[in-house]
Amino acid sequence: MLTRPLGRTGLKVSEIGFGAASFWGHPAFSEAEAHRLVHRALDLGLTLFDTGPAYSRGRAEGRLGRALAGREASSLVIATKAGTRFEGGRVRRDMSLSAIEASLEESLRRLGLDVLPLVHLHGPAAEELTPDFVGGLERLRRRGLFQSLGVNSFNPEVIDAALAHPQIDTVMVDINVLRPARVGLAARAAAAGKGVLAGMPLAMGHTAPRAWRNLGFRDAWYLARALKNHRADMAAGRRFRFLHGRADITGAQAALAWTLGVPGVSAAIVGTTRVGHLEDCVAASGLALPSDLAARIAAAQAQD
Ligand SMILES: NC(=O)c1ccc[n+]([C@@H]2O[C@H](COP(=O)([O-])OP(=O)(O)OC[C@H]3O[C@@H](n4cnc5c(N)ncnc54)[C@H](OP(=O)(O)O)[C@@H]3O)[C@@H](O)[C@H]2O)c1
Repeated sequence: MLTRPLGRTGLKVSEIGFGAASFWGHPAFSEAEAHRLVHRALDLGLTLFDTGPAYSRGRAEGRLGRALAGREASSLVIATKAGTRFEGGRVRRDMSLSAIEASLEESLRRLGLDVLPLVHLHGPAAEELTPDFVGGLERLRRRGLFQSLGVNSFNPEVIDAALAHPQIDTVMVDINVLRPARVGLAARAAAAGKGVLAGMPLAMGHTAPRAWRNLGFRDAWYLARALKNHRADMAAGRRFRFLHGRADITGAQAALAWTLGVPGVSAAIVGTTRVGHLEDCVAASGLALPSDLAARIAAAQAQD
């Protein structure tokens, strides 16, 4: 597994990261299976794990902490979020410094860490990123709650606002074949010295052909979420079906090779609940995107 520097944080991360979120944290997905994936990821050399207190209806972060218990974690970059929590059956957003401080303390406890290597503000508004607010976060850093600070948003205005703050070290953005406009955003972030992490690098699986019949619970869950929240991406993904079914590279590897080829990107954080899929993704590390495939991706992106 290749590693890359994460901007100017001084951290190095495996270029494939593991997303502890989504169905991985769902109660219908067994604790043992979830742990098995994390342990396999560690054995394959992944050093970057991303989670959040609001992920998987509040269950993912604690599950990641339990999965990592007893494993050597000092060289891992465990990234979590602040500014959201799951409460009363829904995700609640609170970007106040007091809520963030309480959230960081809870995350430390759930993850079993003395200090959080990396924390992303989870979807702040651009206007919330004031010098006062960022200065307050700096005080929390000095208190020893976290080492590096980032912003996770899929809104380019928010990311651009974050770039103006020297105290913000990293950004996490959705970077995948369906989002060619992110190439410029990643370049701006890298030029500002920020580490860039790509979330949703597989476009949530929307480029792959989908079976509509005889789905198990997990795939029905993925499909229901896509129909509820991501219909535009499902439609756009059809233009990229050609990624799949090649002999030389799998669809997931092609998607990851594209994302990892975006200048400035330090790592692609994949979500998976299948060991075979994890191994397939890991094999994308160091893989060059075949030039004919790169040209077809560019042509499909130009149709947008
Ligand atoms: N989505 C967001 O809104 C968001 C926001 C911020 C950060 N992130 C971070 O980004 C991470 C990844 O995002 P994501 O899980 O939403 O999307 P993703 O990684 O782009 O796609 C996940 C989907 O791809 C499938 N998959 C994984 N590996 C595969 C393979 N080798 N072949 C075929 N299918 C494969 C997974 O199904 P299986 O379970 O069957 O493998 C799942 O359905 C998150 O875990 C989180 O840490 C996401």
